[in-house]
Amino acid sequence: MDAKNINSFSPDDLGIDQALRPAVWDEYVGQDKIKRNLKVIIEAAKKRGESMDHLLFSGPAGLGKTTLAYLVAREMEVPVRTTSGPALEKMGDMAAILTNLEPGEVLFIDEAHRINRMIEEVLYPAMESRKLHLVIGKGPSARTLSLDLPPFTLIAATTRENLLSHPLRSRFGAILRLDYYSVEDIKKILERSAKILGVTATEDSLSVLARASRATPRIANRLLKRARDFAQINAVGKIDEEIAMHALELLEIDELGLEPNDRKLLLMMIEKFNGGPVGVNTLAAALSEERGVIEDIYEPYLMSLGFLQRTPGGRVVLAPAYDHLKKRRPGELL
Ligand SMILES: Nc1ncnc2c1ncn2[C@@H]1O[C@H](COP(=O)(O)OP(=O)(O)OP(=O)(O)O)[C@@H](O)[C@H]1O
Ligand SMILES: [Mg+2]
Repeated sequence: MDAKNINSFSPDDLGIDQALRPAVWDEYVGQDKIKRNLKVIIEAAKKRGESMDHLLFSGPAGLGKTTLAYLVAREMEVPVRTTSGPALEKMGDMAAILTNLEPGEVLFIDEAHRINRMIEEVLYPAMESRKLHLVIGKGPSARTLSLDLPPFTLIAATTRENLLSHPLRSRFGAILRLDYYSVEDIKKILERSAKILGVTATEDSLSVLARASRATPRIANRLLKRARDFAQINAVGKIDEEIAMHALELLEIDELGLEPNDRKLLLMMIEKFNGGPVGVNTLAAALSEERGVIEDIYEPYLMSLGFLQRTPGGRVVLAPAYDHLKKRRPGELL
């Protein structure tokens, strides 16, 4: 992805992510259903004096899964140990982490859809009955050792729930799916971020940035930061609507948050494939983009706008996308 792409990371952006991450429950805007569910789960576990059920957080990138995992641990007053699917290469890695957990600790595994099958096999008995089965030795003399693990809560996060194996998914006590945020909620997040960043932004400018944020807090915060930079360069004391719109223009992001690649994808489908259906592999090849990026980043937001549909025959462009791009729909009269 090019550096301009608002979904790609720069080290500076990672720092901003940290600085703006809500530290207490009340600062976590929106996702009310999930928050209500979690509060019940947390309170019940506290009352029983036990560790919580294992939890799976699923949803597109930047919606607040990691933030939520930390908030839950904080509420339970337990430490968190963090790892990720791709970081767990060998059974020994997983075994070392599990045996070193403090009682009650939260083990947070990011990118859970990238956990390999061998590691999953270690996780099943650990999640189900707090047992670790280790195979010692090789060949005919190999034997299995069973160790008891301390009580712990696994919180896994994934952007691709459908790639998780069924046995793994079925071992979570609750699966919580994060939704895109409303413009109002994103505005609330931006107001808080502006305060932390020490920048003044008008209500109108926040509306512009919120609408272009792909309904995603992380992207909203990055847009705010870019707008702040732009205001600074132009020696304007605050972010107003004009500054916000200029910043978006510079980033080639339109008022609905579409980036050049989103538009390229839709235009190609319309112009070369008559609006679809087109298979995702064909799209990936035509755009020289990884299939996973199309599925994880472009499609979910385009689908949430009602611009694109996944059908068994392939992807189809829907009427609102034609209108937004000012293209004539197939069969539409002149
Ligand atoms: N509900 C929220 N309220 C306020 N800020 C939020 C909220 N959710 C996310 N954020 C902001 O967005 C940033 C990204 O959130 P987070 O890292 O938790 O997303 P994620 O779902 O884990 O993303 P990924 O899938 O890429 O790991 C956070 O640093 C935080 O500043
Ligand atoms: Mg995360």
